[in-house]
Amino acid sequence: MSFQFPDQFFVTGTDTNVGKTVVSAMLTIGLNGTYWKPVQSGLEPITDTEYVRSVTQLDESHFLPERFRLTEPLSPHLSARLDGVEIHLSDFELPHAARSPLIVEGAGGLLVPLNDKDLIIDLIQKFQLPVCLVSRTQLGTINHTLLSIRQLQQANIPILGVIMNGPLNEENKRAFAHFGQIPILGELEPLEDINPATLRSAFERLFPKAP
Ligand SMILES: Nc1ncnc2c1ncn2[C@@H]1O[C@H](COP(=O)(O)OP(=O)(O)O)[C@@H](O)[C@H]1O
Ligand SMILES: [Mg+2]
Repeated sequence: MSFQFPDQFFVTGTDTNVGKTVVSAMLTIGLNGTYWKPVQSGLEPITDTEYVRSVTQLDESHFLPERFRLTEPLSPHLSARLDGVEIHLSDFELPHAARSPLIVEGAGGLLVPLNDKDLIIDLIQKFQLPVCLVSRTQLGTINHTLLSIRQLQQANIPILGVIMNGPLNEENKRAFAHFGQIPILGELEPLEDINPATLRSAFERLFPKAP
């Protein structure tokens, strides 16, 4: 493979709805790994874990249960409060994954609060996981991406690279590499249908096997 993924890593994004779950699904099926969403905010219509299970059709052995399942699709600190739950960093332990790699999907972006003092980035730091950053390709993404990279660098969190999700954009790709000084792992174009076959072929396109 052109890029060697580590045994465990964290998938974060520049924002909510940037494609973290779709990218995680592609990586879980492509790497034959385990998907874990420690904090799920919003249970309807389906959770991210249920979505990944449905689009990959992978069996139960590829999934771990969430640590927190919060009812409302809001920032975890708020959703937890509404559920009468308190989230503490000490509640989390990196689970053992029978199938490596372990792919951990965050909630929203890096500075999303889990409680009154801890943010998603603190959870990443606690887990000591390297990060794969999912970014949009369209206007606005340079700012979001570079801000996220700065935060990760400040916290000394290793960055595997960026996966750009959306219509190809050469200029933004160049800007990420130039200003962010980190690798662009791949570009995932919009998939017409998201299913095991399209996810597998997208993975093979992004990460071709070394000859
Ligand atoms: N590459 C893609 N092709 C087609 N649809 C996509 C793609 N990436 C994301 N989407 C769609 O965009 C929406 C947000 O993606 P999602 O992965 O759930 O974002 P996040 O996990 O960052 O909130 C979903 O409806 C998803 O199906
Ligand atoms: Mg998601």
